[in-house]
Parts: sequence; structure tokens; C-alpha cells
Amino acid sequence: MTESERSVYEMVGGDATFRQLVDAFYRRVEADEVLRPLFPENLEEGKYWQYLFLAQFFGGPAQYIAERGHPRLRMRHAPFIIDQEGRDHWFAHMCAAIDEVGIQEPARSIMRDYFERGATFMINTESGTNNLMQWQNRSKD
Ligand code: HEM
Repeated sequence: MTESERSVYEMVGGDATFRQLVDAFYRRVEADEVLRPLFPENLEEGKYWQYLFLAQFFGGPAQYIAERGHPRLRMRHAPFIIDQEGRDHWFAHMCAAIDEVGIQEPARSIMRDYFERGATFMINTESGTNNLMQWQNRSKD
């Protein structure tokens, strides 16, 4: 198998690396004044879903969808106010986690590109005002 045929999941060393990545990322979230209030008090369940999702997304077993259903990530993020500042913090922590775990090229750039675009896609407010009401009323539009 050539390098280009291997999944990112295989390149980085599989499950254990994704667990380490999520641990390193959440350690930063926990200490972040902007992001911490968005997350629930107990971070364990979210960490588990994040790990399963990322392992699946980057070519590992389809375990997230088996346990949790279709990702529908934008919808799952709709209850949280995500603005440019939060997005920038999120992305910076994920990049730092990638480097802490020691993920090498080409996987490093593939992951950074996805996180950069994905984090921007998750922005759901311009002003920082609560759009939860809008989201709850979306079917009436
Ligand atoms: C590529 C970008 C992103 C990906 C792939 C991603 C992925 C995920 C996944 C898989 C979950 C768990 C969903 C579930 O409950 O099954 C999650 C939860 C969450 N994400 Fe993201 N996310 C991204 C960007 C962001 C950004 C930019 C923010 C905020 C600035 C954010 C904040 C949250 C919060 C607050 C939760 C809930 C955690 C919990 O319930 O414990 N995410 N995300």
C-alpha cells in the first residue's frame, strides 16, 4: 500500500493516538476562559464522542455512527454560541494538541486543514447574542 492509500487513522497509529489527541485538546479547553463556559460541567461524555467521531472521520471504524447515529455536527453545535473568537480558540487548541501528540506530516496538514474549515463551519453567530431561540423556532420559519 502506498502512503497516499493509507488513512490518516492508520498513519497516526490508530485509536490510542485519537484518545491522546482528545485528552490534550480537552486539557486546553478546560483552562480556556472563552471555551470552558460553552462546555458542560462533566467533560467525559463529550470527550468520548469527540474521540469516536474523529477516529471514524479519519478512516477508523464506524463506531461513532453505530453508537450515536448520524453526526449532524452543525445541528449538534447549534445550542452553543460559537463566534469567531471561540472558533479561533478551538482551532488553536486542536493544532496545539496535534503537535503535543506528535502527529507527523502528511497527517498533520490533512488534520489541520479539516479542523480549520470545520471550525469555521461551526460558527453560528456574528454578534455573540444567543441564537438558541432562533434555532428552537427554526421549523416555524
Ligand atoms: C472541525 C470542527 C469541530 C468538530 C469536528 C467538532 C466535533 C464535535 C463532536 C464530535 C462533538 C460531540 C457530538 C456528540 O454529542 O455526539 C462535539 C461537541 C461539542 N463541540 Fe465541537 N466540533 C468542532 C468545532 C467546535 C467549535 C469551533 C466549538 C466551540 C467554539 C465546539 C464546541 C463544542 C461543544 C460545546 C460541544 C459539546 C460537548 C459536550 O456536550 O460535552 N466545537 N464537537
